[in-house]
Amino acid sequence: MTDLTVHLTQTDIVRGLRSDVLTGLAATPKTLPPKWFYDARGSELFEEITRLEEYYPTRAEREVLADRAGEIAELTGARTLVELGSGSSEKTRLLLDALRDAGTLREIVALDVSDAALDQSVAVLRDAYAQAAVHGVVGDFTQHLALLPGNAPRMVVFLGGTIGNLVPAERAKFLSALRDNLRAGEWLLLGTDLVKDRDTLVRAYDDARGVTAEFNRNVLHVLNRELGADFDVAAFEHVAVWDEREEWIEMRLRATRAMRVRIPAVNLDVDFADGEEMRTEVSAKFRPERVAAELADAGFALSDWWTDKLGRFGVSLARAD
Ligand code: AVJ
Repeated sequence: MTDLTVHLTQTDIVRGLRSDVLTGLAATPKTLPPKWFYDARGSELFEEITRLEEYYPTRAEREVLADRAGEIAELTGARTLVELGSGSSEKTRLLLDALRDAGTLREIVALDVSDAALDQSVAVLRDAYAQAAVHGVVGDFTQHLALLPGNAPRMVVFLGGTIGNLVPAERAKFLSALRDNLRAGEWLLLGTDLVKDRDTLVRAYDDARGVTAEFNRNVLHVLNRELGADFDVAAFEHVAVWDEREEWIEMRLRATRAMRVRIPAVNLDVDFADGEEMRTEVSAKFRPERVAAELADAGFALSDWWTDKLGRFGVSLARAD
């Protein structure tokens, strides 16, 4: 860890986890926020998900970026690329290459909650884009938007459909906070998975090999390790349902027997009934009108909208008004 800017320490992270577990496991129905999937194992499993035949969003978004990166560079003239939740940064490379080729790229800012993931991606980016200054910022995109460095015009990229992990009120808050931290004329590039038939959606979140099931259960391993909990991980089964009214996929963990789980770090005993389901993720799917409306409500003007050829995934380019 050479020179990352740290807005979120290991202590803050464990504190956040304790608070989320206390709130979520005391609630009815029980919930856990999806951000706790992503320890080293969880990030590895997610990478594996992106390579599954059933999980189309990554490939669909990559297709759009590969087709449009030149146009995006042209339209924005971005000097700084800011990536929220940078993860493996693989799709962002398409944009960085285009900005480099257009001659405007000067700075790269990568924000991630995982210092290990960030350390790795910062090193790779420095190597690949010697002409740009690379800043790694350890932080949470729902908390640390005010602290993003970089000279204007910046383009903030938020890819993968991760905005769908926020429920509508959280999305409105996030997009407004982001807008408030940009100057007029700066840019947001947003990836959103689109509403489609139930079968395609459920298969994407309940793959035949069970990789998503293992990813889902991984959150219980995180609680066992970080909080000393004694979840019998094998006693939970993976559930993925399409909620047609909310237009989101919900992942749940279903207890296959009645049990009591002890969570020492928060001094909590949690009872599960046989068959009880705990919500671990929502992944909202969008209609184009909804993306446009939510962006407009937050003070962004939609500039461009693209989808892959099969119309599965949308990428919008919006300008801070
Ligand atoms: C990385 C949050 C966009 O919601 O599709 C993949 C995570 N969950 N399979 C998504 C995920 C189950 C993914 N995001």
